[in-house]
This record gives sequence, C-alpha cells and structure tokens, in this order.
Amino acid sequence: MRHRPKMWLAGLAGSCVILTSGVLSAPAQDTGTQTPEAPAAPAKPSKVPDVIFVPTPQHVVDKMLELAEIKKGDVLYDLGCGDGRIVVTAAKKYGVKAVGFDVDPQRIRESQERVRQNGVGDLVTIKQQDIFETDLSEANVVTLYLLSSLNAKLKPQLEKLKPGSRIVSHSFAMRGAKPNKVVKVKSDYGGEHTIYQWVVPWEKEEE
Ligand SMILES: C[S@@+](CC[C@H](N)C(=O)[O-])C[C@H]1O[C@@H](n2cnc3c(N)ncnc32)[C@H](O)[C@@H]1O
Repeated sequence: MRHRPKMWLAGLAGSCVILTSGVLSAPAQDTGTQTPEAPAAPAKPSKVPDVIFVPTPQHVVDKMLELAEIKKGDVLYDLGCGDGRIVVTAAKKYGVKAVGFDVDPQRIRESQERVRQNGVGDLVTIKQQDIFETDLSEANVVTLYLLSSLNAKLKPQLEKLKPGSRIVSHSFAMRGAKPNKVVKVKSDYGGEHTIYQWVVPWEKEEE
C-alpha cells in the first residue's frame, strides 16, 4: 500500500503528537500517579485514491436512488463518497441512514460540510476509510461511481451483502455480474449516463 506522508501529517495538524522512530505516540503526562498512560491509537495514514473525484450530477443521483428502491430502515453505503451528495440526498429524500466512505481528506471535509449544511448529521456518517478494507455487512443499498475494474475488485465484498440488497453503479458495469436493470439518463451535454442495478444474489454473466 502506498502512503502519502504529507497528507497523513496534515491530518494530524492541531493534535499534540510526537513522532519517534516512525511510531506515533501521545506525549507522556505527569498525572501524579504511578498508573501508566494507555498508548494512543496510531493515526491511520490516508491511501492514494484509486480513482479521481468526479461528482455525479444531481439528476443522476436522484435516478440512482430511485433505482436503489430505498425502503424505510434501509442503510445506504456510498463507496467513494466524494462531496457527499449521494448520502445527503438519500437521508433528505428517503430519511434513511447513510454512510459515505472516502480516502481523500479534502472530500471528507466537503462531505462533512454538506452534511452540516443540510442538517442530516443524525442520519449520515462520513468515514475516511479505504473501501477495499470496509465491512459492508450493515448495508443493504450500495452506490458506486468508480471504474469497472474497481467494481470487479469489490465483488467479493458485495457478494456477502444480505440477499435482496441493491447495488447501483453510475457509468460502470461489474464484470461477471449480470445487472437486473440498466437505465439511461440524458446528460446536460447531449450525451447520456448509464446506471446499472444489481440485486443480491446477482445472476452470473459470461466474462
Ligand atoms: C468518481 S468519484 C464519485 C463520488 C461520488 N460517489 C459521486 O458519485 O458523486 C470517486 C471517489 O472515490 C474516492 N476513492 C477512490 N479510491 C478510494 C478508495 N480505495 N477508498 C475510498 N474512496 C476512494 C475518490 O476520492 C473519489 O472521491
């Protein structure tokens, strides 16, 4: 895994941390007792994003969420949440819990700001986390706008979702998984956006 030391250290700005021989630890405090301080949890370095940030246009977000067939009590995960528009729209429009994951600290800040501005902090959580190291078991709706190769790489995690869970992907298919629905939406520039929907367990497709 490649790390970005600068980004990592930037994330630590403002917190009082000592870097000793590559090990991060909180400074020892004189508490006046003999009780040893519990070691601080190591700060997690950010991973370089596997794909750059390109936002899904809002009318395409709306169509993706329609295709996700969201019901009361659903939990939506957006894997690579960018500026948080999908998770915020899901919470505002459908009143469901939603979690957005991204590795880019800038995107995390933008998402958190969008959550704050829309007053959906009770429903939406934003996590700085690599989607390939994320447990998806709590989700029953997953949204994606990544790449076909990354969708394919996510298959082992997505296959474990509860039966009936919906996966909706903007623009990119998932090799070997037959979509249940494929819908085209006009773009603002004369082209079109393709949206794929799968229901777990999906039908296999010739690769
Ligand atoms: C094309 S954008 C999609 C943003 C948003 N889902 C949308 O549709 O508007 C992809 C996002 O995935 C994030 N990303 C790339 N690799 C990632 C990884 N391994 N773990 C978490 N996020 C990742 C990028 O930082 C970027 O914000």
